[in-house]
Amino acid sequence: MKVTTQKLLNDCYGEYALAAINVFTMEQVLGVFEAADKAASPVIIQTTPVARDYAGPHMIISMIDAAAAIFPKVVYALHLDHGNEPHIHAALESGKYSSVMIDASHEPYDANVERTANVVENAHALGVPVEAELGVLSGIEDDMEVEDSLAKYTRPEEVLDFVNKTKCDSLAIAVGTSHGAYKFSGDQGIRFDILEKIQILLPGFPLVLHGGSAVNPGEIQRINNYGGELKTGSRGVSDGEIKKAIRLGVCKVNIATDLRVLWSGVHREFFHRNPSVFDPILPGKTYKNELVEMVMGKFELLGSTGKA
Ligand code: G3H
Ligand code: 13P
Ligand code: NA
Ligand code: ZN
Repeated sequence: MKVTTQKLLNDCYGEYALAAINVFTMEQVLGVFEAADKAASPVIIQTTPVARDYAGPHMIISMIDAAAAIFPKVVYALHLDHGNEPHIHAALESGKYSSVMIDASHEPYDANVERTANVVENAHALGVPVEAELGVLSGIEDDMEVEDSLAKYTRPEEVLDFVNKTKCDSLAIAVGTSHGAYKFSGDQGIRFDILEKIQILLPGFPLVLHGGSAVNPGEIQRINNYGGELKTGSRGVSDGEIKKAIRLGVCKVNIATDLRVLWSGVHREFFHRNPSVFDPILPGKTYKNELVEMVMGKFELLGSTGKA
């Protein structure tokens, strides 16, 4: 059952968080729905502009509709992640999205406010809530790459003004996470000092953590064991950091990299062990099954198991 994103976010504030999972392929769509069904967990399915453009928006949205029909008990919202105006416009026109994100955080403050407020006005006219972003994450998300030196933490002194001026419904914040497989090295980690200040200024307001993948070192090792060349020695977001962030108002945790890393590891291992196989079905099933386990683990961590 598709529900409004805002209801999901309001229900969990301070207690648990929604996994907001980026999907690109049929195995990912099916696996996320199967996991949500088994765990009786609400979930946010999200598509970036790149996911929509991969085979066209009709394909990815139809796959999501099909999975929702196969698993009718699953409580989910469909969200446009990292939207720009053309994709937001198309998403709103389609009538399929429960919420959209406008990502104008790389703009100067006033331009971010203006673009966000404009999107909010259009989306609210159709009853669709909007996630906005203040602060810039580094790393790679689809076709966007932001160098570490250009990343900026959210400035707590701006959050109240931003939310009041834009009327956005949830806020993505930059508190040290980044997109991709290399988030923290050394003693880096989530800047809870910044997150605490934001929560004090926006009590009860749903915050969104981008760059929420754990980047399991075992999975990086599996990829490298079977011919990959991923960098080792950095880490993703720890379970303890996720739990603490939830208590500080993070209601939505975005996860994309962990599904990609798993895809790469499963397929590399599969074809290494089965060098004469050239069939997509067998590794596809293995990937979907491992993805179900991994996503069920995310629901446990975020505390959303049984909350559907
Ligand atoms: O209808 C929605 C939109 O068009 C959002 O973007 O500011 O370009 O209109 P816009
Ligand atoms: P990860 O790269 O940590 O999976 O973050 C995904 C994300 O923020 C999608 O918007
Ligand atoms: Na951004
Ligand atoms: Zn993101």
